Amino acid sequence: MSTAEERTPFKSKDVNAVDLHSIDLDSIDTTNPAPEEEPARQYYFMAKCREIIKERELEDGRRQTANVTTFGCQMNAKDSEKLRGILDVIGYERTESEEADFVIYNTCTVRENANLKVYGHLGYLSNLKKKNPRMIIGLCGCMMQEPDVVEKLKKSYRFVNLIFGTHNIFKFAELLYQVLEGQRMVIDIWQDTDKIVEDLPADRTYSFKCGVNIMYGCNNFCTYCIVPYVRGRERSRRPEDILCEVERLAKDGVIEVMLLGQNVNSYGKTLDEPISFAELLKMVEQVPGIERIRFMTSHPKDLSDELIAVMKQSSKICCHLHLPLQSGSSRILKKMNRRYTKEQYLALADKLRREIPGLSITTDIIVGFPGETEEDFQETLDVVQKVRFDSAFTFIYSKRTGTPAAAMEDQVPDDIVKDRFNRLLTLVQTISQEMATRVEGQTLPVLVESVNDHDDSLVTGRLANNLLVHFPGGKDLIGKIVDVHLTECKGFYYMGEISCEVME
Ligand code: SAH
Ligand code: SF4
Ligand code: F3S
Repeated sequence: MSTAEERTPFKSKDVNAVDLHSIDLDSIDTTNPAPEEEPARQYYFMAKCREIIKERELEDGRRQTANVTTFGCQMNAKDSEKLRGILDVIGYERTESEEADFVIYNTCTVRENANLKVYGHLGYLSNLKKKNPRMIIGLCGCMMQEPDVVEKLKKSYRFVNLIFGTHNIFKFAELLYQVLEGQRMVIDIWQDTDKIVEDLPADRTYSFKCGVNIMYGCNNFCTYCIVPYVRGRERSRRPEDILCEVERLAKDGVIEVMLLGQNVNSYGKTLDEPISFAELLKMVEQVPGIERIRFMTSHPKDLSDELIAVMKQSSKICCHLHLPLQSGSSRILKKMNRRYTKEQYLALADKLRREIPGLSITTDIIVGFPGETEEDFQETLDVVQKVRFDSAFTFIYSKRTGTPAAAMEDQVPDDIVKDRFNRLLTLVQTISQEMATRVEGQTLPVLVESVNDHDDSLVTGRLANNLLVHFPGGKDLIGKIVDVHLTECKGFYYMGEISCEVME
């Protein structure tokens, strides 16, 4: 029996160097039984899948196509990069169209709307499958962690071939192989996991910026939120694994990383050798080539002075903090189990604005949590007025089965919630437009992300504070940081002019 190391299918000897070009599935003998250990087992199944895909290519006289559609947050976007990486290795050609040989939806269930969207899309897919009976339809992600959803799919959506959840996404190749081999409906959902499988392929959406998971799951159990149930307990990745990934990305041309976790401020607390999020940030700052560091999300209850100090002295950590408020009423915050009061939030925001001049503070707010009165809502408006958020995502409370809030009495009637939501939105938008003008006339670094969608003589990029800037330029600027004179604020974005040589 060979050792795991000998069997690792990389051309280079560095097991962490998983870029798509270094993977050599040819070194795997698929006539052997599947190895037990991960990730070797998944590479074995990628090789098996690839054999079948090659056969299908010959039969159909064309490449097999795959489409990955993502719903939900940055975590899901990151997971989709993993799915795409595996599909590339297997030999699928990627397509934006859902008229594909394989379509997978990476689902979200944070609000009811997110679920409804998926069911709506499934109807469309079933029609496409009638035209291409060999089409494979897969569903994964947060929604699949809900037993009711899987029951419904089993009963009424028999045309779905593959269902898996958030904890076993690393098994994608193995599960897809079962479908390719002819099983009609493969379902594999894990209730939870303490496992983190590293070193699987991933395909990045952008060449110059990339999300990096630093932790998975959530332990906070805010009473409205389904995430802890569908993403499991909080698990931090080891700092050395994170740094290895960031170094690899930097070598590959990435200049901006976004460190991802549901509550990055509690990063590292449960590791065998605990470290703080601020310490991790300092390490990431040292990685040569990384110019910008972002992170999300920060829970106000865990935001430390150490983090503020690290942000303050850093030239790489972007001056942007996403700090979800959820409600401005201490009474509602208590019922939400957020573990801070209105006064504590205000004091924290005050301290941040004082200590880090120019910091952009953005937030999430929920309207219509059970029992929310007009007085409670006024408290929320009061916090919005006092903190003056640079921008805010506003949500109508959505009842999630199984969460404590779903069983609370006094669910607020729809018409009242809609009225509050509209009032909040008006205030939030007025303030963010005012806040956006703060840097008008200044010259600031912009990371260019794309050619402008509407006018190809312009490019679009982001300021460190996350605002968008459009300015004349060509696509050779994409992925570069350039100094841009911010000539005119147009509400939520800027028009500008490039002001000096491209920084290398
Ligand atoms: N971990 C992050 C948030 C993740 S979910 C944090 O704690 O801030 C993203 C946002 O969705 C939340 O901040 C919240 O505002 C919103 N949200 C979560 N559950 C919701 C629900 N049941 N109804 C409405 N909005 C919800
Ligand atoms: Fe949900 Fe709260 Fe966890 Fe954020 S911190 S994911 S809102 S439970
Ligand atoms: Fe949605 Fe899951 Fe993210 S429920 S918001 S995709 S963690």
